[in-house]
Amino acid sequence: MGIIGIDLGTTNSAMAYYEDGKAHIVTNDQDQRTTPSVYQVKPNGEEVIGLAAKKGAATFANRTVLEVKRLMGTGEDVVIDGNAYRPEEISSKYLRYLKESAEQKLNRNIDEAVITVPAYFTDAQRKATKDAGELAGLTVERIINEPTAAALAFCHDNLDEDRHLLVYDLGGGTFDVSVVELFEGIVTVQSSVGDNELGGTDFDKVLANLILETFEKENGYPMETIAQDPKMLAYTIKEAAESAKIELSTQVEATIMIPFIGLKDNFPVGFNGTITRNAFEEAIRPYIDRTLEKVATALAEAGLTPSDIDEVLMVGGSTRVPAVQEAVDSLFGDKIRTDVNPDEVVAQGAAVQAGLKSGAIDASTGLMAIDVCPYTLGLSIVQENEYGENVFGVFDPLIEKNTPIPTKQTKTYYTMEDGQEEVHLEIYQGEARRVEDNTLVSDDIYVRNIPRNRAGAEQIQVTFHYDINGLINVEALVVSTGQVVKEVIESQQGVMSKEEKSQAVRRMEEEEHVSDAYDRAKKAIHKAERAKAACSEQDAARLSDQIAHLQAALEAEDVRAIERNEQKLLDLLLEVL
Ligand SMILES: Nc1ncnc2c1ncn2[C@@H]1O[C@H](COP(=O)(O)OP(=O)(O)OP(=O)(O)O)[C@@H](O)[C@H]1O
Ligand SMILES: [Mg+2]
Repeated sequence: MGIIGIDLGTTNSAMAYYEDGKAHIVTNDQDQRTTPSVYQVKPNGEEVIGLAAKKGAATFANRTVLEVKRLMGTGEDVVIDGNAYRPEEISSKYLRYLKESAEQKLNRNIDEAVITVPAYFTDAQRKATKDAGELAGLTVERIINEPTAAALAFCHDNLDEDRHLLVYDLGGGTFDVSVVELFEGIVTVQSSVGDNELGGTDFDKVLANLILETFEKENGYPMETIAQDPKMLAYTIKEAAESAKIELSTQVEATIMIPFIGLKDNFPVGFNGTITRNAFEEAIRPYIDRTLEKVATALAEAGLTPSDIDEVLMVGGSTRVPAVQEAVDSLFGDKIRTDVNPDEVVAQGAAVQAGLKSGAIDASTGLMAIDVCPYTLGLSIVQENEYGENVFGVFDPLIEKNTPIPTKQTKTYYTMEDGQEEVHLEIYQGEARRVEDNTLVSDDIYVRNIPRNRAGAEQIQVTFHYDINGLINVEALVVSTGQVVKEVIESQQGVMSKEEKSQAVRRMEEEEHVSDAYDRAKKAIHKAERAKAACSEQDAARLSDQIAHLQAALEAEDVRAIERNEQKLLDLLLEVL
């Protein structure tokens, strides 16, 4: 039994475990401290996760999924070989892999996780993340915001310091900035602003476009026209762009080489070019400026100026871009902490939260995090305008953004018609005056079984909560009957229903079964090959024979034969050793 902290990133995930007074990064089964969030399934059903999947992305372009975090909560599917998956199903595959790696490394069962999300994630994105954990067999009672996790990890190591922190978190896919107050171990978020579509991936896209433009200028035709597989080309360029970007963090110029793109008049064509740091920085300037605008907003919402900030934590791999560092430096100078690991601090913070939950951290330290809701929560209402006309879709705020969570607000509604038996509500989150410019939480909210009565006679008290995880819950009380309805949200765009979840679990079990069969068979072969050296010639020959049978089954992609022959090989091993 154990709780692990997981930073489920757009491009990389990391995990940590709290033990002996410290959050320790737990490496994956290949001893890496972070795992690329990449999923791949080979034609025979073998699932590959992490670095190997990232490396094979271009080769198995139609069977590889990258950056699925950007699709969480959108309702958009991922298609692999004609099969549609929900983004949370793909996420759950990484999570299961991380859970199993951790179980191996820590030598104990991991049944619960604290998972981090960008502070600016909406309700649907948070619910999808929680569901991904649960699909992976993890209980997820706590979701924690990434910048808050970073601040919590920092506070854990610097308990005596009372100060204002600014967390600048620029990862692969998302940007968050939070202003946080540390006081006697209590981490209080004062404001949180972000952009869920801004990160290193966008820098890669900018570079990829530069590559495409340069190619077309030099060759007089677009690169795509000679590519055999457009998706494969896109992954190849993305890979080249990302490595050039990383090179530009230390060099002032990077070489981009793509040996083979396709054939033109029967001749192989490739790409060879250089890009300077200056050109790259100019191209990503708009993104950096956008992050600075968000910093200004976060400070303003907290009622602070840059000079009130004592320390700045730079979190996320993209903070290694020199232009990003210079931009933050121009505002905060030497307040930037240099002792924070941008790739690990979020997972460590999640582990600290896990430690608080499990009791591994003594409550007497007083350490805790108080977060805020990132969006204003409100309802769609009809309002009369100055001409006496009804205007639909006006946003009526109930809980203002940056309110400490958990928090709730109750509003009383009255029936409008004689005999009215149900009330229908539409809730949104966002800051705009019109609901269509905000994010729909759900328009499938019903309070039913209201006693038939005359118009206005029945009172319904509806309570809107932002819970400790930033998730929205709605509860209703029909005053005359005392009936409380807890599950008022019936369905939500971008969030899986109970039936969809149980279907997904069934499908995943089948897929895992197939993939595990390959994995186990390969391990058995490895073991048998090694055992051959330690046994008699005769036994070695029997082992070779059985290895050959298993290999034939693997080649035939016959899962039942694989399982049968793996068992035979294991039995034989027991016999000869
Ligand atoms: N040395 C470097 N220079 C520039 N960019 C880098 C460097 N190292 C990593 N990156 C970029 O950092 C990004 C990954 O950062 P990180 O692992 O923090 O993101 P993430 O946690 O996956 O994403 P998010 O938090 O947005 O969900 C990638 O876009 C990667 O290319
Ligand atoms: Mg991250």
